[in-house]
Amino acid sequence: MCGIIGYIGYQEAYPILIKGLHRLEYRGYDSAGIALINRENNLSIYKAKGRVADLEEFSLGKDISGTVGIAHTRWATHGEPNHINAHPHYSQSENLALIHNGIIENYAVLKESLSRKGYVFQSDTDTEVLVQLIEYIKTGNNTDISTAVQLALKQVIGAYAIAVIEKENPDLIIAARKSSPLVVGIGKNEFFLASDATPIIEYTNQVIYLNDEEIAVIHRNEPLRIVNLSNVEKTPQITRLEMSLNELEKGGYPHFMLKEIFEQPRTLRDCMSGRVNTGNRNIVLSGIVDHREKFINCRRIIILACGTSWHAGLIGEYLFEEFCRIPVEVEYSSEFRYRHPVIHRDDIVIAVSQSGETADTLAAIELAKEAGAFVYGICNVVGSSIPRNTDSGSYTHVGPEIGVASTKAFTAQVAVLVMMALSIAREKKTIPEKRFLAVLSELSRIPGKIETILQQNGYIEDLSKIFTYAHNFIYLGRGYGYPVAIEGALKLKEISYIHAEGYPAAEMKHGPIALIDNEMPVVVIATDSTTYDKMISNIQEIKARKGRILAIVNKSDCKVREMADYTIEIPDTEECLSPLLSIVPLQLLSYHIAVRKGRDVDMPRNLAKSVTVE
Ligand code: F6R
Repeated sequence: MCGIIGYIGYQEAYPILIKGLHRLEYRGYDSAGIALINRENNLSIYKAKGRVADLEEFSLGKDISGTVGIAHTRWATHGEPNHINAHPHYSQSENLALIHNGIIENYAVLKESLSRKGYVFQSDTDTEVLVQLIEYIKTGNNTDISTAVQLALKQVIGAYAIAVIEKENPDLIIAARKSSPLVVGIGKNEFFLASDATPIIEYTNQVIYLNDEEIAVIHRNEPLRIVNLSNVEKTPQITRLEMSLNELEKGGYPHFMLKEIFEQPRTLRDCMSGRVNTGNRNIVLSGIVDHREKFINCRRIIILACGTSWHAGLIGEYLFEEFCRIPVEVEYSSEFRYRHPVIHRDDIVIAVSQSGETADTLAAIELAKEAGAFVYGICNVVGSSIPRNTDSGSYTHVGPEIGVASTKAFTAQVAVLVMMALSIAREKKTIPEKRFLAVLSELSRIPGKIETILQQNGYIEDLSKIFTYAHNFIYLGRGYGYPVAIEGALKLKEISYIHAEGYPAAEMKHGPIALIDNEMPVVVIATDSTTYDKMISNIQEIKARKGRILAIVNKSDCKVREMADYTIEIPDTEECLSPLLSIVPLQLLSYHIAVRKGRDVDMPRNLAKSVTVE
């Protein structure tokens, strides 16, 4: 939610900041803005409603010179997404400019107090309150900007990643974070800062991930200083980035989403590499090996996640219960954190998150830790907040996922959960060896099977024409097919804006069946499973009401294809691995429907990739 970037060095800041904003645009795209200090020490702010491209157009012909600057792409929280509420915000004197990602929860109290002191606000944002507060403290206490930021942040309740520049101090950027991510890149005689490492990687691979309540004092030509809110000096921990620039490009695909769908054979191989070993018939997840006793003896597993990651978590529930015989609860992080959950010290909490920054999941983790549970993270973004706040975990290793709709991260989350369940089950001896080996070897064949599904892209694109003008969809599945149904429905609604409901197929007759008529497309996950025959009965019920059926079936299927209006075939596999295959055609179907409807597939309206606010 909101992307922030800053630069100070010897190069012109504007092109670096704009390029960086493009990379961060997935985090929010309601408005964009930039602040630059030029050689005459003029501090200029340019902002535009809409995309970074709108900002570029607005900046044409303006003075965009300067070697220090900060920039922002916004996902609106306080105040509508217009030009005035866009960041950066000036302080009253226009000596300071500030960008912010997060929410200042006590902004109303602070604003009232500053208003009484004569401060006038231009925008409806919480951010403007912070920059005014910093200025008030700076002038009132006659202190430097770094101290003023420290003192101001002590008064702030909420989440922030901020960067401030000062007209009279063109050699300095002050940046700070709490509960919103911030990375500082260290180049040769130059520094970068950003919400994630993607805008930094082409300039340097040396970065520092700031911790909560740390302030980076970034001075041109001086070593970076990090202090906490009490001005205690911290030793910067430099991390080497492993990312490559190619991962951030579309690589010839029209959209990141399509690229990421097509990357899945490779990303799953990467995810399993060094972990799944068919040669010596083993699965090694270091996080499980290191905490073997905890997993063997745990009373219960609680899976915490949001959105697509929550759907992966549901598949995890089925896996852990089937193979490990451990009771599992899957919780929306946002519900869990506010409902006084019972957490035991011998519970294991698994937090699933692509970004590793989801605010509700982070808060739910804190709650679980306070109750003494062991917390394991399944995350994609290396160095993000969740991996840094959990006791152990496994990365999914799929590389940057830029399309807002999650695809390759989902399949890798499921693959990690499969690997976890199998290895714990083997340790607990709750899985027969023969079964373990059968699932293990089938798991290694999944990437190749996805490749065959992807060959049907043209056919699925053709199918999408039939459904482009539907107003509603129902997705039905049972067992392992149920989380796939709700994930398929989510993919469709978030990028095409078509209303879609995912439902357990047998629950349909308890209500949703009333929706079915000859206009309603019903997508059924009807692959081979223990409930295959029951699913056939559910399909009959839909047919009896003239619903139009699109069925995901196995290659070997003969019954469902007789009944369905349209089918998409996937290769046969183990039931517990079927979500890894059956979701792929649904990702493609949503993609093509959205493209046909002219939607902005990679940046759907109202959404942002990383939800760092509640
Ligand atoms: C949907 C989607 C979201 C995320 C959710 C959680 O395609 O991407 O539903 O899954 O916002 O995000 P992470 O996984 O980053 O915690």
